[in-house]
Amino acid sequence: MTGIRSYHEYRKNSRSGAAIQLSEAMTVTDSFEIFLVAAPGTEHSLLVETKDLKFSTPKLVPGGVTIEGLWPDVWRANLELREATRVLVRLGSFHVSHLAQLDKLAHKFSWGKTFNQGAELRVEVTCKKSRIYHAGAAIQRIETALKDELGATISADANLVIKARIENNLCTISVDSSGESLHKRGHKEAVGKAPLRETLASYVLRQCGYNGTETVVDPMCGSGTFIIEAAEIALGLKPGRERNFAFEQLNSFDQTTWQNLRQNNTPKPTAFRFYGSDRDQGAIAMCKANAERAGVTTLTTFTRRAISDLMPPEGPPGLVIVNPPYGTRIGDKKPLFALYGALGQTLKSRFTGWRLGLITTDTSLAKATGLAFAKPGPPINHGGLKVLLFKTERLG
Ligand SMILES: C[S@@+](CC[C@H](N)C(=O)[O-])C[C@H]1O[C@@H](n2cnc3c(N)ncnc32)[C@H](O)[C@@H]1O
Repeated sequence: MTGIRSYHEYRKNSRSGAAIQLSEAMTVTDSFEIFLVAAPGTEHSLLVETKDLKFSTPKLVPGGVTIEGLWPDVWRANLELREATRVLVRLGSFHVSHLAQLDKLAHKFSWGKTFNQGAELRVEVTCKKSRIYHAGAAIQRIETALKDELGATISADANLVIKARIENNLCTISVDSSGESLHKRGHKEAVGKAPLRETLASYVLRQCGYNGTETVVDPMCGSGTFIIEAAEIALGLKPGRERNFAFEQLNSFDQTTWQNLRQNNTPKPTAFRFYGSDRDQGAIAMCKANAERAGVTTLTTFTRRAISDLMPPEGPPGLVIVNPPYGTRIGDKKPLFALYGALGQTLKSRFTGWRLGLITTDTSLAKATGLAFAKPGPPINHGGLKVLLFKTERLG
């Protein structure tokens, strides 16, 4: 990580396929490792997305994907990736075998290259297979160094988080450039009881072969996550366009370059439409409010309707995507077999030519639809629950 280059040189030499317009005032350093965190079970799909978006040197690693880049690549990753949950920037690493040494090395660490004097920060530490095994003691040493060297304020509510991972006596220091988890797109104020994370919805859409060029129907749409994500993908809208990120508080941040990146997002024309329905009127009101904030109302239709009244929209068949209730508490599950059965019956009789993607925690519930599913992939962790994606071919 040596040498400062001008933005002209950066643009000429950048291995990133996507052109990033840097402001004249900006200087950049050589590239560094950026770690894209994936929800467990979705790492492979994030790798595909990272390649599609032309990030440099993507590699699959436990827990996610690494890429190489510069700060504008960090900002673009936060802005454009639909499936990553966070973007961490590796700031440096050092060998450490006891707490007094951590204290000394943390005082020597070049915090000032990344953080502004007096920054408000939080420190998180994980220890694995190392002589230092007490995360709390390690946090205290690093926090003290930050206060001494940077005049930092340590706060449990800080938006800027430093993550130290001590593994095999190697301490790797990263900063979480995202702040709030990336599933928070910034336009969903209204959520139901069991909302799907937007990052997971995008993963599921990709796994079902959706690329923005077909109609999508969600007959149990809750707060509208699938339908809003699908409409945004069709329009080519960047998922992070409306929200703030922790990287805006770092000393590498350049407002002009960031605004260039963010505003370079004219919606693509699309002929496709996206339909959500739910039996609950409150859910439909939520979907409409969320779609409005996301700027996708012209493409989306939300209707109060029970699954038994579902009809396919006009036009060629597309994708039905659904996240029915799971009934995770004991005793909740029984009535759900009838609900899944009704879903299967409706789709079999009225949705010839459509494909179905269904996510649930329980194979026996998926079977109750009576539909022929391919073997589901590995379970995906969703808020502590393990969910499975069941997919059909075109319904006959
Ligand atoms: C797990 S939630 C879906 C959450 C949604 N994916 C989201 O992101 O907010 C299940 C939804 O199914 C709806 N539902 C349950 N039974 C239904 C039925 N018979 N017909 C239509 N919707 C139903 C519920 O009202 C609830 O909103």
